[in-house]
Amino acid sequence: MPYFTQEFINKVIDSSDIVRIVSRHTTLTRKGQRYWGLCPFPDHNEKTPSFSVKPEGVYYCFGCEKGGNVVNFVMEMNRLTFTEAIEFLANEANIPLEYDTSRGGSQERHSSKKTIYEINRNAANYYYTNLMKTPAALKYLSERGIGASAVKTFGLGYSLPEGGLYAHLRDKGFRKEDMLEASLVRENSGRVYDYFRGRIMYPILDVNNNIVGFGGRVMDKSEPKYLNSPENSVFYKRSMLYNLNRAKSALSSNPMIIVEGYMDVISLYDKGIKTVCATLGTALGEKHASIIKRYTDNVILCYDGDSPGKKAALRGSSILENEGLNVKVLLLPDDHDPDSYIRAYGTKAFIDRVAEAKYATDFKLDELFLKYDVSDVNDRARLLSEAAETVSQVRDEVKWDYYAQQLSQRTDTPLSTVRNLIYTKGGRSTASPENLASGSAPKENPSPAYSAKELTMLRYIMDSRDNYLRFTEAGGANFFTGEMADLYEEMEKLYAQGCVDMEKELIYNTELVRQAALLSTVEADIPAGDVPRYVNSLLADMYGEKLRQIKKQIDDVNSTKDKTVLIQEQRYLKQKLIELKSGV
Ligand code: UTP
Ligand code: MN
Repeated sequence: MPYFTQEFINKVIDSSDIVRIVSRHTTLTRKGQRYWGLCPFPDHNEKTPSFSVKPEGVYYCFGCEKGGNVVNFVMEMNRLTFTEAIEFLANEANIPLEYDTSRGGSQERHSSKKTIYEINRNAANYYYTNLMKTPAALKYLSERGIGASAVKTFGLGYSLPEGGLYAHLRDKGFRKEDMLEASLVRENSGRVYDYFRGRIMYPILDVNNNIVGFGGRVMDKSEPKYLNSPENSVFYKRSMLYNLNRAKSALSSNPMIIVEGYMDVISLYDKGIKTVCATLGTALGEKHASIIKRYTDNVILCYDGDSPGKKAALRGSSILENEGLNVKVLLLPDDHDPDSYIRAYGTKAFIDRVAEAKYATDFKLDELFLKYDVSDVNDRARLLSEAAETVSQVRDEVKWDYYAQQLSQRTDTPLSTVRNLIYTKGGRSTASPENLASGSAPKENPSPAYSAKELTMLRYIMDSRDNYLRFTEAGGANFFTGEMADLYEEMEKLYAQGCVDMEKELIYNTELVRQAALLSTVEADIPAGDVPRYVNSLLADMYGEKLRQIKKQIDDVNSTKDKTVLIQEQRYLKQKLIELKSGV
């Protein structure tokens, strides 16, 4: 691929007027230091402006949480690759294109992830073009009810049985090593061949709309039915939810509907159920749960009605409930998955089923009442024992009480007996007062991925080198989370290199500028004298989080040796916390 030097990229960014470029897509009004307007991105419809632009060169939407610099904007708005976006902007600013023929040098520093995203985007375009000229593949999709608009929305494609992607990408100038790393080609005794061949292709996008991998389905009965990209440096199945990038903006007011397959997602989304997501050939896990929690409190697990589907729903619901989510279970009639159901009965029927979905605990209890005969004393004892086990997992005190009473009534057993039974199963867990709500209430803040404290501190650090030094002198280090940890690391490096204007420097960094754009919306007037207190409180949060994890591990671990180590660590952290709180 044609590479540009970082200097050239910076020049293009500097010469582009972000306000002018955004203004072509939405009307901006100046308020103080920023411009505001309705979000111009097509999948975010809003009535009150939450899209802000800073003339210095960043934009951020509080509604759909997209943000970045002018390059990110035209990539997203005009659906361009990074290279195409730079070419487009250079052209706008009348800057002659200068490709970096030497490759390497300053370029290597950034290229890896970005290169893989770019390779994947080029591959998706290639697969799409193939699809358009392969009548059999188009016919397969249309017979499955997938029309042209769904094909476009999901960027579906087709990989030819004879391959062709490798040659295509090579002609575009991509390196074989990068293609191998993107898992799109394989090499076997010197021969390079396409990983996906003769399959309908489903690009998999992360929440920032980077293509991180692909799923591919055969069109006949051969095996494996689906082939997914193997995990690599940009693709972690355990944290991927297919369609979260499109679903997320509607999640503040609707529960997330989790289904099993690509086709279920596409079908439901296409028929108006926008908040549908799927895990990718892997079971729902803790990592998924913690990601979901950033976007919503309410989840509906919608699996096939067969027994593996039921099992998966029960397993999944425990994991989600452990994360503090309100989980409902919706099992479809025996021979249906969500895709076939909605095609057979329509959107309204599906929504009716969703409305009937039961909370996971109710679902489990109802199953027990079906399995056992309450009027038989032996059965009743077994039922109560298993039901008590289920209820003992309920963390919330009000809900716990509710289920205890319900069990007592439904089995005609004294409440005190039922309560004792639940107590003895696994002990009483603590209630969390913030979880009392019954589940349908939307979250106040749809995406508290980062704490306000964390953002404020980072903004403060971004503001000046002096601030950064005050932070480190007060014992601050990289205890931030997720992408904010990456951003901190980058700032640390840039300050070490003598950077004086961090905000401006970060505007050039197309990968981290989204985080910087978010920070630029935060106020950070921390008085210098308050920095140590701030650092301590961030540290306390971090220790608190670690303690929470250790507590969980202690409950899970079996060997006493491991337990001892964990308990020691727990003690150490507790001591640290006490020291922090007493200001030692
Ligand atoms: P299903 O077998 O239920 O397929 O797998 P489906 O989604 O109903 O597919 P269609 O309708 O026949 O096209 C559910 C999901 O499990 C993963 C895929 O993510 C799939 O969507 N899977 C399934 C694999 O990864 N590999 C396989 O071979 C099969
Ligand atoms: Mn299916």
